[in-house]
Amino acid sequence: MAENTIIIGAYWGDEGKGKIVDLLAADADWVARFNGGDNAGHTIVAEGKKTILHILPSGAVQGKNVAIGPDVFVNPEALLKDLQSVKDYKGRIVVDERAHVIMPYHLTLDDGGKLGTTKRGIGPAAEDRASRTRDITFSDLISEKFKEKLHGVLKEKELMLRNTGLNSMADYENEIYRTSNEYASRVRQLTGNAGLELHNAIQRGEKVILEGAQGALLDIVHGTRPYVTSSNTTAGGAFANLGLNPRHFKVVGIAKAYPTRVGEGPFPTELKNELGRRIQEDGHEFGATTGRPRKAGMPDFVALRYSARINSFDEIAVTKLDVLAGKEFTAAVKYEKGGETTENFPFRLEGWQPVYGKTYYFESFTEAEAERMCKEGYTSLPEGMREYLEDVAAAIKTPISMVSLSPKREITVVKDALEETRKCLTWLM
Ligand code: IMP
Repeated sequence: MAENTIIIGAYWGDEGKGKIVDLLAADADWVARFNGGDNAGHTIVAEGKKTILHILPSGAVQGKNVAIGPDVFVNPEALLKDLQSVKDYKGRIVVDERAHVIMPYHLTLDDGGKLGTTKRGIGPAAEDRASRTRDITFSDLISEKFKEKLHGVLKEKELMLRNTGLNSMADYENEIYRTSNEYASRVRQLTGNAGLELHNAIQRGEKVILEGAQGALLDIVHGTRPYVTSSNTTAGGAFANLGLNPRHFKVVGIAKAYPTRVGEGPFPTELKNELGRRIQEDGHEFGATTGRPRKAGMPDFVALRYSARINSFDEIAVTKLDVLAGKEFTAAVKYEKGGETTENFPFRLEGWQPVYGKTYYFESFTEAEAERMCKEGYTSLPEGMREYLEDVAAAIKTPISMVSLSPKREITVVKDALEETRKCLTWLM
């Protein structure tokens, strides 16, 4: 049976998952999204062309069959925009009938607040999901009873909406009904059963990739609550939400060479100095969706260890190593608070300070050198880089299968990485 893979961000999102999914999608039949909404943006650079997708799985760039699962929050406008970006699209696209529709009032009610959200309406839509009566699914959107459902929902929300300055509920309702009808006519033929499609594909021996949005530390349950998103960003959540068998999948974590974080919330290894600014600039750490600058930090083995455990990573890919080239850096190996130390990521991070281990350094390299290293394989990487990679693997007891040295799909070291980093793990055991 073909190897199915799930891709999970190991930190707080923006780890470069799009590139890795795009790389793996080359020989996949299906690529599916299982969480989040258009709060996540994926930038894919392939064959000299840059495409940014917000809700469609990145496999769409390669014309693969793509699916959007039942627990994804979909703004139909973002979906139609993405479809426009991949208009020569040849594969099938299935949006699950249970997927949640982001409605205009979700956007009105999501003001960023104290969590510093992406203002894409995800939180308010998730609140409606929890209510079980006020949520609008794709199945509702295309149903003959949509008008009735919308009326009931708006009745319940009337007070809240009036508080935002809305005067005429009737006009508001008519306008939403009109645009929703237009969306419905364009998405009707895409609406289906994503879990069943993927299950059948696996049974036929086709290869499926599940593409996570955000990162494990933003998971609604396991993340740094309350500064998290409203869906499950971890592997277990994906299988539960799509109704797929975890035993059919390899779990690959994407660990950016350094963590970043947008919005509010604790970030133990945050760099508030010149190095942080250089990483932010060299790594183009500005949100694909919101344009917000991302805070950058030192690598954090404590956070990665936690992520590896809660997702059961089989392997990890380390991305954006080129950004750390020419910069001296270190990594948090444990946390300390009032004389107490821990290697386990605490739920409440307040007061915990990172304790840093050794210093790493490797020289900058040109794109031509990066290409050469990719051709030659893992052992041709600079010694300082390998030392860092092997320490990551050892800290989280997980081998590294891919090393990314550039945004370009071609510039990724795959050859021998798994074998070599596994070697250092065997040593440790
Ligand atoms: P929401 O998902 O828009 O509700 O935002 C909740 C938190 O998750 C905020 O701190 C956001 O900045 C963060 N967040 C949501 N999506 C992403 C993403 O794709 N990358 C990084 N952070 C994200």
